[in-house]
Amino acid sequence: MTNEQTYAPDQPILPQQAVVAHRLLKKYGSLTAVDQIDFTVEKGEAFGLLGPNGAGKSTTMRMIYCRTPFTGGSLRVEKWNVHQHPKQIKAIVGVVPQENNLDPDLNVIENLLVYARYFRIGEDEARVRTQQLLSFIGLTEKQDTHVEALSGGMKRRLIVARALINHPRILIMDEPTTGLDPRARHDLWDRLRELRRRRITILLSTHYMEEAEKLCDRLIIMDQGKILTEGTPSQLVEESVSKFVLEIHGADASDLPDLSPKVTVQTHGSTRYYFAPSAELLTPLIDQHPSHKSLLRPSNLEDVFLRLTGQDRLQ
Ligand SMILES: Nc1ncnc2c1ncn2[C@@H]1O[C@H](COP(=O)(O)OP(=O)(O)OP(=O)(O)O)[C@@H](O)[C@H]1O
Ligand SMILES: [Mg+2]
Repeated sequence: MTNEQTYAPDQPILPQQAVVAHRLLKKYGSLTAVDQIDFTVEKGEAFGLLGPNGAGKSTTMRMIYCRTPFTGGSLRVEKWNVHQHPKQIKAIVGVVPQENNLDPDLNVIENLLVYARYFRIGEDEARVRTQQLLSFIGLTEKQDTHVEALSGGMKRRLIVARALINHPRILIMDEPTTGLDPRARHDLWDRLRELRRRRITILLSTHYMEEAEKLCDRLIIMDQGKILTEGTPSQLVEESVSKFVLEIHGADASDLPDLSPKVTVQTHGSTRYYFAPSAELLTPLIDQHPSHKSLLRPSNLEDVFLRLTGQDRLQ
């Protein structure tokens, strides 16, 4: 602990709450990675952390699973205080870190068995759980394969299986589907829905807006260590952007047409986005850009993300 740390008194936590962060602060030297944020995760919900690269998502998650000490504020996981009871917290969380940290010297099954030992799970029980998890994640056929010989997506799935070995009540997943092909991603979404049905609390960071929309009951969008907004995916879309959007590709800055006051414009790279509460307000604009590719569609979480963070989703 350094002199800089300024822990706040514990916040009360209700029986239905899994995580409560209050003015949670993380500094790396002079850099503030997480800037006094407040949020609560309810037991059994799937809670999403979105935000551009460097927003502070992984740092927030690492503080929750007691990997990175926090600098200020308070953080509780169930009834435990993170800096006083890391052991108890580690016993009830499962972690899928952003980086692949499987043991490259071991095969698939050995990776799970070794991990089970950290939780003092007996050998026989560990073997039973290992087989169940490999089947759950679709890697049974690869059980004797050396980790180095797995594809990137298979490694990711193995890490998800590993995170479940201790039957966690809270599953913390930092970009679990990065690198998965669309089929594998959909399969993992199915698995995660199954875990939700079992009332496991899920914290998930992702750069895939579709994933957040499909899986998360509630989410926060972070940028530069702060929470920009919080809500259900549909609430955020309703509150932050108009209902429809027209994308015009390749439009340059000089050809901005006259617009109804109900239409707002945003540009990202070479794409211009016109937002409006009704599609009728946007269709005339298609004719005004006859030589450009255009797409008229309902607005979605990605539009919210771009609007709030002012960035392309080039993560
Ligand atoms: N160990 C560290 N030492 C110093 N700075 C760090 C360390 N880890 C993270 N940071 C900094 O903290 C900030 C937040 O990083 P973090 O990894 O939490 O972002 P993120 O939202 O997870 O980003 P990404 O989407 O790229 O994974 C960044 O500015 C990063 O450079
Ligand atoms: Mg990260």
